[in-house]
Amino acid sequence: MSPGDVEELEIELLLEGIFRRYGVDFRNYSRASVKRRIGICREKLNVERFSDLIPELLNNKEAFNSFLLNMSVGVTEMFRDPEFFLTFREKVIPVMKTYPFVKIWHAGCSTGEEVYSLAIILQEESFLDRSVIYATDFNALSLDIAQKGIYSMEDFKHFEANYQATGAKSRLGDYCKEKYGFFKLSDQLKKNIVFSTHNLASDGVFGEMNVIICRNVLIYFDKMLQNRVFHLFRDSLSPLGFLCLGTKETVKFSDVADEFDLLFKKEKIFRKISNTNGQAIL
Ligand SMILES: C[S@@+](CC[C@H](N)C(=O)[O-])C[C@H]1O[C@@H](n2cnc3c(N)ncnc32)[C@H](O)[C@@H]1O
Repeated sequence: MSPGDVEELEIELLLEGIFRRYGVDFRNYSRASVKRRIGICREKLNVERFSDLIPELLNNKEAFNSFLLNMSVGVTEMFRDPEFFLTFREKVIPVMKTYPFVKIWHAGCSTGEEVYSLAIILQEESFLDRSVIYATDFNALSLDIAQKGIYSMEDFKHFEANYQATGAKSRLGDYCKEKYGFFKLSDQLKKNIVFSTHNLASDGVFGEMNVIICRNVLIYFDKMLQNRVFHLFRDSLSPLGFLCLGTKETVKFSDVADEFDLLFKKEKIFRKISNTNGQAIL
């Protein structure tokens, strides 16, 4: 075995140990990014080998919590990729308006900036009252921040510029209050949002969703885990439901590829075209 192979084995044993000790499954995350993140943890704990992390992380809950934080890449922003939100506003919402009520699952929502962006757009299109948004992430600390909806003013200008590029009907400031260098999103936007933990690697279906938004999460998963998640999304979506992915993500190479139509290539908006038996409905 080469030193590189031994390192691979050490990582596998560590991830297996973490799964069996805590039920948190990183075994099918993309190996390059997992290795980089575990490397950061190794430096922080000042140990020489990946395998030295095994006793440390399995016995010390505090060290494990900090490892978990480090493994969850929470980078996000309001109205990230404004063209996605513009297309959602102009093309998806008019279809949603033909339904009396719509259920949206926002998976991997991190600290919530994207969820509030969506709520603002739904509000402006007079559809927030006819929607419920289930916003989930496996990181409970991120969800705590999401639930509060309080963010630093440092990013405000950038968020406002993003927002204006989505066909905005107002100013971002109209949806929040500023205090002590932070801004807080209005409670009005929160009333139809339900925040809860959900792990895409191990938890089950979220039933009968009309829209699933899961952007910039699958890039961290290997092909096998991506496939699991695509099955989960296929089973959670009602027929003709919309699936919105990140700009670098696609359902194309998964084994449910035939059950989705790519509606908007750049914005990565797909539509489920199969019924519950997997038969084509379009
Ligand atoms: C880069 S952020 C993307 C946030 C947001 N969707 C966006 O595009 O701005 C990735 C998020 O995926 C979450 N995540 C990673 N693995 C997950 C899993 N197995 N189940 C649920 N969420 C997960 C992380 O906690 C993080 O909040």
